[in-house]
Amino acid sequence: MKAIFPGSFDPVTLGHVEIIRRGAAMAGELLVAVLVNPDKQGLFTPQKRVELLKDACGDLPGVSFMIYNGLLADLARETGVRLVIRGVRTSADLDAESAMARANARLLPGLETALLPASPQASDISSSLVRQIASLGGDVSPFLPPGAARALNEMYRQKKASK
Ligand code: PNS
Repeated sequence: MKAIFPGSFDPVTLGHVEIIRRGAAMAGELLVAVLVNPDKQGLFTPQKRVELLKDACGDLPGVSFMIYNGLLADLARETGVRLVIRGVRTSADLDAESAMARANARLLPGLETALLPASPQASDISSSLVRQIASLGGDVSPFLPPGAARALNEMYRQKKASK
């Protein structure tokens, strides 16, 4: 079976890598889709996010990557995939993810979402938290794959230098 793991991945964290690993093992084939939010100016370009994803888990069997502009339900319709995988860390995540899953199923009847509980090690990691830590000069290496940590540190070094 093929599944989609959609997200912003700005940048990929060790929490995402865990879900990619488990999702691919569970589904057999996993399409990791960087969904572009037109209302949100991301830190990394979608292309760079895919590059960092590939660097972190491009060697996992059955895993592929893409960028998509639009609704997740439309991506599922276009690819014929009917299973979405998302990770949940907290009860707040569970509420938000359940609402998203219901909306997606309304948009495309038959589109299922499987929610994977994050492991304790990954439960406190979020891209927004690591962006903040990096912007204030903190060490993000416990939270990110090495390539993403380097790219994030470099991004904030450049931002600081250009101020
Ligand atoms: O990594 P994130 O930011 O938690 O991912 C959220 C994402 C990208 C999965 C969600 O915002 C999404 O699906 N966006 C695509 C647009 C869409 O389909 N919106 C309706 C979802 S109910």
